[in-house]
Amino acid sequence: MAQPYVLVLYYSRHGATRLMAEEIARGVERCGLEARLRTVPPVSPQTEQSLAAIPSEGAIYCSQEDLRDCSGLAFGSPTRFGNMAAPMKYFWDGSANLWANGSLIGKPAGVFTSSTSMHGGQESTLLSMMLPLLHHGMLICGLPYSEPALHHSRSGGTPYGPSHVALFDEGQPRLSDEERQLCQALGKRLGHLSLTLRQGA
Ligand SMILES: Cc1cc2nc3c(=O)[nH]c(=O)nc-3n(C[C@H](O)[C@H](O)[C@H](O)COP(=O)(O)O)c2cc1C
Repeated sequence: MAQPYVLVLYYSRHGATRLMAEEIARGVERCGLEARLRTVPPVSPQTEQSLAAIPSEGAIYCSQEDLRDCSGLAFGSPTRFGNMAAPMKYFWDGSANLWANGSLIGKPAGVFTSSTSMHGGQESTLLSMMLPLLHHGMLICGLPYSEPALHHSRSGGTPYGPSHVALFDEGQPRLSDEERQLCQALGKRLGHLSLTLRQGA
């Protein structure tokens, strides 16, 4: 049987969601499981030049096989007008085959996001990101309040999933300690659930 892995799938234009993805991957790896970091290309009008199949830096693009064969999924997007970014929506719109085959049914999944304002739609983004996962039959996993950082955070972090508030004057994105802890907590939770559910299957 192939080695199990948690797919950490994200889109990030300015690096904040990517930082979160890397922390979630650390949490997954603490469970002794591979964390497979993958991204998606930006979407553009048909008249624009197409991109190389492999990005010049960072994670490679996610294939349908990466998604099909994962044991668990962490799914991240910047908040865009209170919703996921178009490239992520486009990716999910291309997953009908996996849906028809029930490939993701019963696998654990969690969501994460970054936004520039504290009340700019993080929770609506996280909740709406869960919708395609529910259609695919995935088991949604959030963050319990037994995580101390959920009580103490003065920036990102929600029971629906980790979040980051990327302040305008920050320059390079930087996660607060609590945001980092909550990202790792989701990774650990998904890693643990992936292993447990796989054993029970
Ligand atoms: C088109 C667009 C829409 C956005 N909408 C929101 C929003 O609704 N609320 C918010 O707080 N930030 C919004 N932002 C800011 C991004 O969520 C923020 O910069 C995020 O941290 C980017 O993540 P990244 O560094 O991973 O690209 C928007 C940015 C863009 C480009």
